[in-house]
Amino acid sequence: HTIIRKINKEHPDPEVIREAGGILRAGGLVAFPTETVYGLGADALNEEAAKKIYAAKGRPSDNPLIIHITNMKDLERIVTEIPETAKKVAESYWPGPLTMIFEKAEIVPYGTTGGLKTVAVRMPDHPAARAVIDAGGGYIAAPSANTSGRPSPTCAEHVAEDLSGRIEMIVDAGPVDIGVESTILDMTVDPPMILRPGAVTREMLEELIGPVDVDRTILSAKSRQAPKAPGMKYRHYAPKAGLVVVEGPEKDVAEWIGRRTAELQKAGKKVGIIATEETKGLYPQADVKVAGTREDEGTVASRLYAILREFDADGVDAIYSESFDREGIGAAVMNRLLKAAGHQIVKLPAKEQD
Ligand code: TXA
Ligand code: MG
Repeated sequence: HTIIRKINKEHPDPEVIREAGGILRAGGLVAFPTETVYGLGADALNEEAAKKIYAAKGRPSDNPLIIHITNMKDLERIVTEIPETAKKVAESYWPGPLTMIFEKAEIVPYGTTGGLKTVAVRMPDHPAARAVIDAGGGYIAAPSANTSGRPSPTCAEHVAEDLSGRIEMIVDAGPVDIGVESTILDMTVDPPMILRPGAVTREMLEELIGPVDVDRTILSAKSRQAPKAPGMKYRHYAPKAGLVVVEGPEKDVAEWIGRRTAELQKAGKKVGIIATEETKGLYPQADVKVAGTREDEGTVASRLYAILREFDADGVDAIYSESFDREGIGAAVMNRLLKAAGHQIVKLPAKEQD
């Protein structure tokens, strides 16, 4: 049986927080919101507790967890060394949607790091997350609170869908703000390397600390190399129906998708389409969901996972999505969308100017 408690995001009810903290300290599992996605928390320094996360999610045990903290003092206990550049990054982007990788200290169990000598650490900004982390002892391991292979949860209902009956408690503070997981920045290499794109972009980091590498497997279809973040190798964020991304001039994309939709519908299939405020009118005949506006890819980030879940619930047979700009948070949006699509992308040629 899973207890679900609603709280106010800005002023979390102290009684609910105490209850969540008690469960975490006793080695139990509590899902809670962060500004990126909902996390599934356990005491990070208790190996048995961390193991329960893998069981609840059906997650492969070589996929390491992120440890969540609320202040810099606590970082010192779980890493061997904090590089100067990391301090600089932390000053600007912690608390926030950013995870950094360090050499782990002895105290961090291998059960939390998937056997690695490094540890991922994040300091979230969400008031409810911070309250839960502190109440739970200050070191909370938390992957996204979804069943392995499903889209990450952006509201408490998604968590309940996947994990009800498998965890002790869900702290519900409403939908999250950002909607895609934190940027992961590896500080154990020089220059630092982005292993997963998120709301803290490469441009933002480079402005602060100079050159930053990006793991080449992030946007490419079939790199022979394994991604440096073990979790990025799994087919994540996958909707049940096949998903294809279509890139090209707006009208051509709509025409292509429209033609394909008509064919599939004639064969008795249900089609879902991911479009934007600007383009939704171009698809008269199908189940169209508006991801957001092209003026701000952040709006797409916050809706994307919910849309993939909605199409699952609608029972569509195929999903076609428009493509998005890869600038800023668009890099994170396209990374998640292409992963959900298993990198199936149709590129229509750009038209010559008249
Ligand atoms: O926004 C987020 O980061 C959310 C919220 C809950 O904080 N958490 C999250 O955790 O996305 P998860 O477990 O779903 O993704 C963590 C990613 C995985 O791809 C994992 O392989 C990678 O981080 N990772 C963790 N520790 C690592 C390490 N030591 N070295 C390289 N990659 C690591
Ligand atoms: Mg995840």
